[in-house]
Amino acid sequence: MWTRYKILIFSYLTTELCAETHSLSPREVDPGPYFTRNQTTFEGTRHKRAIFQGQYCRRFGCCEDRDDACVTHFYEANALCYCDSFCERENPDCCPDYKSFCQEEKEWPPLKQPLDPEGCSRGSQHYEEGSVVKENCNSCTCSGQQWNCSQHVCLVHPELIEHINKGDYGWTAQNYSQFWGMTLEEGFKFRLGTLPPSPMLLSMNEMTASFPARADLPEVFISSYKWPGWTHGPLDQKNCAASWAFSTASVAADRIAIQSRGRYTANLSPQNLISCCAKNRHGCNSGSIDRAWWFLRKRGLVSHACYPLFKDQNSTNNICAMASRSDGRGKRHATKPCPNSFEKSNRIYQCSPPYRVSSNETEIMREIIKNGPVQAIMQVHEDFFYYKTGIYRHVISTNEESEKYRKLRTHAVKLTGWGTLRGAGGKKEKFWIAANSWGKSWGENGYFRILRGVNESDIEKLIIAAWGQLTSTDDP
Ligand SMILES: *[C@@H]1O[C@H](CO)[C@@H](O)[C@H](O)[C@H]1NC(C)=O
Ligand SMILES: *[C@@H]1O[C@H](CO)[C@@H](O)[C@H](O)[C@H]1NC(C)=O
Ligand SMILES: *[C@@H]1O[C@H](CO)[C@@H](O)[C@H](O)[C@H]1NC(C)=O
Ligand SMILES: *[C@@H]1O[C@H](CO)[C@@H](O)[C@H](O)[C@H]1NC(C)=O
Ligand SMILES: *[C@@H]1O[C@H](CO)[C@@H](O)[C@H](O)[C@H]1NC(C)=O
Ligand SMILES: *[C@@H]1O[C@H](CO)[C@@H](O)[C@H](O)[C@H]1NC(C)=O
Repeated sequence: MWTRYKILIFSYLTTELCAETHSLSPREVDPGPYFTRNQTTFEGTRHKRAIFQGQYCRRFGCCEDRDDACVTHFYEANALCYCDSFCERENPDCCPDYKSFCQEEKEWPPLKQPLDPEGCSRGSQHYEEGSVVKENCNSCTCSGQQWNCSQHVCLVHPELIEHINKGDYGWTAQNYSQFWGMTLEEGFKFRLGTLPPSPMLLSMNEMTASFPARADLPEVFISSYKWPGWTHGPLDQKNCAASWAFSTASVAADRIAIQSRGRYTANLSPQNLISCCAKNRHGCNSGSIDRAWWFLRKRGLVSHACYPLFKDQNSTNNICAMASRSDGRGKRHATKPCPNSFEKSNRIYQCSPPYRVSSNETEIMREIIKNGPVQAIMQVHEDFFYYKTGIYRHVISTNEESEKYRKLRTHAVKLTGWGTLRGAGGKKEKFWIAANSWGKSWGENGYFRILRGVNESDIEKLIIAAWGQLTSTDDP
């Protein structure tokens, strides 16, 4: 009974409302299309309308011909207004934004559902027309109530990270904040920085270490356990494409410390190489490791403490701040104080010409255990940037769309040891331990493990090492 009563009230009210709207609508009584609508109703608001900037047609939509249903409430004047092409006759009953929206922007056919207010939304946030927001490596501009975004391919590809972490690949991936916002192109351009090895380097004879015998090689070997304090941890090259300098300086420093039996344990300065080994003007724009080893032999490097990394490695006043002269027997001495004035020792360290180690896994292991860490050239794929922990192997995303994410470039790292572990599929897998130059927040404290013995990412293709150049007075 009560419900019926309610329905009755409701239908009464709607009838009343309809009637009221009808009575407000002048078109019902309009004699024909060539006459204006009921002038009197709107006379008072005629001139006022032009000053209103609100959204009527923009929100309600535009209609063609004469369409008396194409009417919306004109709040400012407490009246109704129209958005049909009848308005082109300059009828005063039209919405103030008819001309600017329906005539100039021509948004046909009518959109009956209400649109967002002017501007764009993102989540629950509202942005004004012209606002710019950054979406990973792309920027989006709010233009005509829509986001117009640039279409760069970003270095961080969340779908690939998810794909790796869902699969059984033996390693896990992480969304690193330091890579977020970079394009794929920028990542490969600024975070690597070793030129492909020259034919000269590739044609070098391979040296083979004769000891120890294969059977004597341990299952696990970690350089820093055998030589505590004599090997050096990873630095951060940041956006300086100079892995050519970081890997060379680090291998040279370890080798000098090991060969001098701990007499010279200083880390060597990659900045010294970046700023001073500039014959081919690469520096932070990639370089060749042949050149780096040439510099270590002929000019030598001061310590990392003496010539630390610049805050802005890309700065243009990155001129060489070190100089040296020869004592006539090939040994060089610094002629300038350290760029870091707190460090007094500007001793220069030099190396022998580099030599190539065989690509044979056993030979590489022998070389490391006997003489210390070695330099390895590898091919970096896009997924390598996300490595967090485990044994790295390149993961190819099968997604069609991921084609544009595939990229490959040369990088140089330092191999410091090896081991075996149950990895992907529960299988026992052999790995190398390598130091990268992306800081300690990347990977396993700056290091990564990578499959051993299968030339994963060409890691076994070119292995380089050198001896420290120690004079008789240097020898312990
Ligand atoms: C104009 O509208 C008013 C008020 O809504 C109404 O009373 C009047 O009859 C209309 N005039 C004409 C000519 O239709
Ligand atoms: C989006 O922005 C680009 C460049 O800023 C411009 O060339 C293009 O016309 C815009 N597209 C749209 C649909 O506004
Ligand atoms: C990745 O990290 C960035 C910032 O570090 C964050 O804004 C973004 O939402 C993260 N993306 C995913 C998919 O987790
Ligand atoms: C470094 O400098 C080069 C050359 O001036 C420039 O092309 C590059 O964009 C800069 N890199 C960064 C990360 O600012
Ligand atoms: C690597 O060298 C070891 C001994 O030095 C040898 O037994 C082994 O067959 C070599 N492996 C390959 C793939 O040549
Ligand atoms: C490693 O792979 C690269 C590219 O596939 C190849 O050129 C190279 O000869 C391989 N090296 C070894 C030792 O298998």
